[in-house]
Amino acid sequence: MAAHPDPKISARNVNKIYQTAAGSMTAVKDFTLDIADGEFLAIVGPSGCGKSTFLRMLAGLEDVSSGQLSIRPGSDPKKPLNSVVFQEYAIFPWKTVIQNVAFGLQMRGISEPERLEVARGWLDRVGLTKFAHHYPHQISGGMKQRVSILRALVNDPEVLLMDEPLGALDAQTRVVLQEELLRIWEQTRKTVVYITHSLDEAVLLGDRVVLMSAQPGQILDIYQIDLGRPRSIDTMNLPAFSEYRAAIWERLSAEVTRAMEMQN
Ligand SMILES: Nc1ncnc2c1ncn2[C@@H]1O[C@H](COP(=O)(O)OP(=O)(O)OP(=O)(O)O)[C@@H](O)[C@H]1O
Ligand SMILES: [Mg+2]
Repeated sequence: MAAHPDPKISARNVNKIYQTAAGSMTAVKDFTLDIADGEFLAIVGPSGCGKSTFLRMLAGLEDVSSGQLSIRPGSDPKKPLNSVVFQEYAIFPWKTVIQNVAFGLQMRGISEPERLEVARGWLDRVGLTKFAHHYPHQISGGMKQRVSILRALVNDPEVLLMDEPLGALDAQTRVVLQEELLRIWEQTRKTVVYITHSLDEAVLLGDRVVLMSAQPGQILDIYQIDLGRPRSIDTMNLPAFSEYRAAIWERLSAEVTRAMEMQN
């Protein structure tokens, strides 16, 4: 396993055990992983293998049962350690697009003119300026999810945690947002932990792809994706892309089958 001298995120023998009516259940088992500053790490694995549980522990929304999990703070104590983007749009229906994007800054006590300026800058970057004063019900699903992502980015968190952020979108919109994420990541080089059910997405976006096993969720393998940067949708046409995809799919499909058998 690649060891980083000064990782941004460090997981050491992390376990998560849930107590349920049926007894205790290990959701995440013995996770040891370093994530470098500025790395884009994708995680794939069968449904129910513990991906979201790991992300929620990283976000501090869930305790670890044992082991150590930490995000290295940055130099600015005002910046949040993490921001999370879920599949469901996390936006206020009663606020306009720009008010939604600026909301996180309001929480940090930044003045209104400055908030709006920063939010406007982000809207510009993803072509949403025209919709700044629209309400969420007046914009498409793809735009809503862009707004959710901007809400997370505007706070400039130390790490960005994303749990199937494009999972609810149609295939075409998804491709557009994948390109956008690539572009934004090139500009910000933020440390990202990105959970997805799409292997194409994982290989396209990730510097590394972590493959998790069916429950109890363990790290089965970590694939280094050497496809160069910057990437675009055209990267998917490279022969090396198909090779990575095929290699990971071979093992992922076996885990998916195993997970389904366990449910029967
Ligand atoms: N609060 C909880 N209490 C008990 N069990 C839980 C709890 N949260 C999750 N689990 C169980 O832990 C396991 C891992 O769940 P998790 O949501 O992390 O999986 P996942 O990999 O994100 O799945 P999916 O791909 O379907 O989103 C599942 O078996 C789930 O039922
Ligand atoms: Mg999940």
